[in-house]
Amino acid sequence: MAEASTTRLSLFVAVRLVEAIERELADAFEATFAETDDSLAELRESATPFDAMLFSLDLKMGRAEIESLPNSVRALATYSVGTDHIDLDAAREHDLVVLNTPGVLADSVAENALLLMLGAARRATESIDLVRSRRWSGWTPTQLVGVQLGGRTLGILGMGDIGKRIAVRARALGMEILYSNRRPLPADELFSEGFRSSAAELIRDSDVLLLACPSTDETRGIVDAELLAQAKPGLILVNIARGDLVVDEALVEALRAGRVWAAALDVFDGEPDIASAYYDRPNVFMLPHTGSSTIEARMGMGLILIDGLRRWRAGEEIPNQVR
Ligand code: GLV
Repeated sequence: MAEASTTRLSLFVAVRLVEAIERELADAFEATFAETDDSLAELRESATPFDAMLFSLDLKMGRAEIESLPNSVRALATYSVGTDHIDLDAAREHDLVVLNTPGVLADSVAENALLLMLGAARRATESIDLVRSRRWSGWTPTQLVGVQLGGRTLGILGMGDIGKRIAVRARALGMEILYSNRRPLPADELFSEGFRSSAAELIRDSDVLLLACPSTDETRGIVDAELLAQAKPGLILVNIARGDLVVDEALVEALRAGRVWAAALDVFDGEPDIASAYYDRPNVFMLPHTGSSTIEARMGMGLILIDGLRRWRAGEEIPNQVR
């Protein structure tokens, strides 16, 4: 825990944020906002001894980047819930406190998950294309026939805070909920009865498989050809988590072969680059990583980091510290 200090915390902000949060940061701290795309170089070259840096997913903080930080920087605040862009071992070894944004974006991400599921189920890519290309010639009984989610089974891989909020919403649509986690939920928790002990068991029983787990050594590439070969016929695959959970070639092949009926992807391996085969598949509904893109989430993310940095400065317990 940092020692309490009476001077204002000096913060380097490496990323552009919604205006209201930039104002809050400027009110709360001695905040300096990066002026170029090479924010790390700016930080290193600055004469200001910054106490902390605020950044986001677009800035990889691997071991080399962490070791290149000025010694004055003792806290890293990531404007994201995910931390896979940070080498947490290196941060720990260098006694850096890492803060993130749990909870505050979960409802927005859950709502986006519904958009993705529905987008895939109701063939949104083709529908939007038909209307916007001005080729639509009118209603017909055979036009763009999709599938209904009500009555189908949703399998959630990674039943954490976000997974549970998706489950609540999906149940309201009439879906049955299954999930797989490292450990089953306690027996008295909602949805606990839907536990499956592996991704393979889950995909065999699910009409929609939704990825909501973090990217770790265990989960990276988990959706590969072997897993997809076990999919229940008609599967819809939804990824709201991280692109590298999915082996793109395997998913493209499964879509082509009809083993997967449709996919909805908010995240991509190597984003913003997207495996080009996805563009050729009308049954892929894609969004540009918009899970937390609501004003409510973006405000909450900023405020929780401000609160965490204040607590760190005051030497208090920090609820959103990444351990
Ligand atoms: C978004 O992907 C986040 O980790 O906040």
